[in-house]
Formats: sequence, C-alpha cells, structure tokens
Amino acid sequence: MSERVDWTSRPSGPIRGTLTVPGDKSISHRAIMLAAIAEGTSRISGFLEGEDTRATAAAFHAMGVAIDAPAPSQRVVHGVGLHGLEPGKHALDCGNSGTGMRLLTGLLAGQHFDSTLIGDASLSRRPMRRVIEPLTSMGAAIDAESGLPPLRVHGNRSLHGIRYAPPVASAQIKSAVLLAGLYAEGETEVREVHPTRDYTERMLAAFGWPIAFSPGLARLGGGHRLRATDIDVPADFSSAAFFVVAATLVPGSELVIRGVGLNPRRTGLLAVLRAMGADIAEQDRREQGGEIVGDLVVRHAPLRGVEVPLEHVPDMIDEFPILFVAAAGARGITTIRGAAELRVKESDRIATMAAGLAALGIAVRETDDGAVIQGGAFRGGRVDSAGDHRVAMSFAVAGLVARDVVGIADCANVATSFPEFLASAKSVGFAIGITS
Ligand code: S3P
Repeated sequence: MSERVDWTSRPSGPIRGTLTVPGDKSISHRAIMLAAIAEGTSRISGFLEGEDTRATAAAFHAMGVAIDAPAPSQRVVHGVGLHGLEPGKHALDCGNSGTGMRLLTGLLAGQHFDSTLIGDASLSRRPMRRVIEPLTSMGAAIDAESGLPPLRVHGNRSLHGIRYAPPVASAQIKSAVLLAGLYAEGETEVREVHPTRDYTERMLAAFGWPIAFSPGLARLGGGHRLRATDIDVPADFSSAAFFVVAATLVPGSELVIRGVGLNPRRTGLLAVLRAMGADIAEQDRREQGGEIVGDLVVRHAPLRGVEVPLEHVPDMIDEFPILFVAAAGARGITTIRGAAELRVKESDRIATMAAGLAALGIAVRETDDGAVIQGGAFRGGRVDSAGDHRVAMSFAVAGLVARDVVGIADCANVATSFPEFLASAKSVGFAIGITS
C-alpha cells in the first residue's frame, strides 16, 4: 500500500457542476476474473483503476493470463479458458480487497494446482470461514489459521455442486460458491434470505454460461464454457454516494453525476436519503452492458432522521459510512439496525464512524449491529479513518458542513476504490487538501 496520507476538509460553498466517477469496483473484479477464464479476447472499458481491482488483474497475470492496458480504464484480456490458468510463482496478493480474495478462493478451488492468497494488514483480519465452509462442503481443501488469511487453496480436487443458504447476506460468499460451481460436477444453488448484488450471475450469463437467477436465488451446473465478451463497466454507485450526500447537505448545491450504475441491489441509499427528505432525481435511465445506468441530479435539501428499514441494509452495505454523516447532518434521530457486517469490513465501520462523529461533536451511540445517531452540528476536529477508504471520503464530506476544519488521518487507502477522489471533489467545490 501507498504511504500514509492525511487530509483536511474545510467548510465550503455550494457543491456544483457535473461529475463522472470511476468504474464499478464489484463489476471490474468480476470482468477480469471471467474474461481470464473465458475462451477468446474480451475488452473491458470503464475498468476501475484502483488498487483493489489492479491487484485482481495482477493475480491473473501471475497465473499466465495476458492482460493489455491500451489506455487508462481499458483492459484487453486474452482468456485462457476454464482450465488454462497456470500456478503463480509466488503468493497471489489481494491487497486490501475482500472481494478479490473471497471470489478468487472459489475460483481457485477448482484448479489443478495449489495457490496461496495473501492480503494487507486489514484484509488479514477479515473472516474467511464464510467461504471456506461452503467450499469445503463442495470438496475443496483450504487451509487458513483461525479462518484468517493467508489462505492455502489446494488444487486437484473434484468438486461437486451444493445447495447453499449463506448465514449472512453476502454477494462475496454467493459468488465464491458459484465460481467453484463452474468446476463442480452437478448443480450448485445459492438461496439468500436477503438478496445481494447479482453481478456474478449477470456476468456469467453475458459470458454464455447457462445460469438461472432471480432475487435471492442463483443456480448453475458445471461443465460448460465461457465465451469472451466485451464489458462496459458503469460508474460506481458507491463512489457517487459521497457526492450525493455532499450536494444534499451543503446549501445552494446542485450536482449532476453521470452514467452511474443503478442496479437496485446497490441503491438502497437513495431510498433512505429520499425518506430523509433528499432531492435526488434520476435522468436518462438507460441500459449499458446489461446494467441500468442513469444520471443523478442532486439538489440541497434539509434532512430528517429515520429508522433505516432492515430490508435496505444489504442494498446499501457499502454506503453506511456516508449515511452516518448524512444522519449526523439531519434533524432528529437516525437508527441503524441489522448491519453487524459493518464490523468486518475494511475497518470496523460502526466503531470508526462512531468515534469520528463523536470527535466532531455529534451524539452517537454504538450498538452491536448498528448505531443511534442524533443529528446536530459538526464542529471541527481530528478523526482517524483507520485506513478505510470509505470512512476517509465520508469525513471529507463532513468537513464541508463543519464549523471548522476537519483533519482526517490515514487516507492513502482511498486509492483502493477512488484514486482521483481529491481532484473530483475539488472540481465540484470541496475545500480539501493533503496535509502530509
Ligand atoms: C462486494 C460485496 C459486498 C461489498 C463489497 C463488494 C462484491 O460485500 O461490501 O464492497 O463485489 O461482491 P459482502 O457481499 O461480503 O457484504
């Protein structure tokens, strides 16, 4: 990872202009993975040039897949077919990325060679039993001390399909099982109580793999082949979310964010912000590579606290850090429940957000699976992002409406998902800078 970087974010004028945010992280990971094991050459445009997705591309390069980068955000992947990967010479480094590691574990469980997966300090603390258990029941052999990375994924196993109901709502678990299912004998089925993002299912279909899926259900059989295809990655809703909240909170703002992926399994935040009083319009909804995209037009509006409905939690799982900031800037109380998953993200997001808000003078009470936030006025102060990209960007938004400067420590990890955040933020009126 890059060197330590701190930011300051100051009270600003209105957030105005037109912005395009980088490509979707989840889709970029999957595009590389499926293109690598497809037959033929796939072109990916809108690829996220972030550390997480580059780590996934580097892992496949290390396994013998030729990947060209003819221009920024473009990749040309020369697929080697389902059985064409070669063992990497070294451990495969997933960096900060839980998605990269968990999906790769499923895919590597079906190979004819052993692999080792490693990650940075944050990823090395994240739970992997959630994929090891279902994959083991498919016949995989995976070693991990205490269920944590590094993972040793053994090859030359014969896998068989399973019917699986993950105990936590997680697209990463579902995807790991489905990717192993490509290599398994018989049928693999995943049933979810709370449907999660369906990008793996959609992309497998786009690459020609027979798959049946609907919200909460995915079913496929082994023994087919993936055929190369071109993928046009939409802009990442999770990156757009910081600007949606910024323009909502700062008086006089009016912002257009173009070409944002609006898959309903990702946009729970829009429903919650609208229930809080936000003024967010969707324009020019269109299809792009099998996904719905649209332009978001956001105008300032005063917010009021809400109880976040449980059914929205999986559809906004990455947006809770910025929702904490929106809630702190609202009138009244916001209650978040059913979001214990936040404790095992890039940081313990309930704890890091609660500590940061408290440092800025906001009354917040942590609970096991959420928080109760009393909206109020942000004063200036110093907060620690704990090396979590989404926490850092969320407090950058808090700084816009604080009474004084907000200092944010440990922001280098923003490069995992949104390397050009500072430039984009400045271009629409953030008063933000680097202090170290
Ligand atoms: C992701 C799924 C989510 C999300 C992560 C990306 C994916 O994790 O938090 O940023 O691409 O599948 P879980 O599915 O484990 O909740």
